[in-house]
Amino acid sequence: MPRARRALVVALVVALCPRASSARAISREDAFVGYSERARGATLRLTLDGDGAGDARAIALRLREDWAPTLARELAGGAARRGSFYRAEATPEAGARDGYGGPGPPYALLQGALEGLRGRAEGEAPIVARGYACVIGSGPDFFIATRGHAEWGRAHACFAEADETSMALVDEITETYAVHPETWGRTNVTVLNERLPFSASIE
Ligand SMILES: *[C@@H]1O[C@H](CO)[C@@H](O)[C@H](O)[C@H]1NC(C)=O
Repeated sequence: MPRARRALVVALVVALCPRASSARAISREDAFVGYSERARGATLRLTLDGDGAGDARAIALRLREDWAPTLARELAGGAARRGSFYRAEATPEAGARDGYGGPGPPYALLQGALEGLRGRAEGEAPIVARGYACVIGSGPDFFIATRGHAEWGRAHACFAEADETSMALVDEITETYAVHPETWGRTNVTVLNERLPFSASIE
């Protein structure tokens, strides 16, 4: 191999060798992991008080800083400690139409209040899908949707997302726990006969 050609090959091998550029490669990768971890967010765990040992059922909500940066950061910092669920709405029959045009009632959600939850949408909120946890007004009330709610547009600040394991518990509450009808404003709702208190923790 001519000398100039050999020098070029060596230079290319050095340039492409991971070890030769390891310092830069690692720091860039760390930066990426750090960014994606933050975007993925911490988990807000709502543990139902239950009735003693062995009954610590929980709903795990993955905080979504990409949807609601300030809210998600405050919650990740431990802003909320306790709350309770008070409204449980089953899935509406296909074609159910209320005075707003439907779907519903019932309204396919679990609603509660979380002490310390304060905030509104920043930027464009997502269309509510199953598993999304969203603030009502500016808090402390919020809901977890059991079905998509495209009919609500982008009115609610969604701040977290429940996994399917947690949604099995949410489904159980909305479909099987005892409720009674009430009318709030013009809306016909179903309210839990007994509030479900929970503690909130971050992991
Ligand atoms: C609530 O229920 C009443 C009685 O069934 C009904 O007339 C009214 O339209 C309902 N309200 C809404 C907003 O659907």
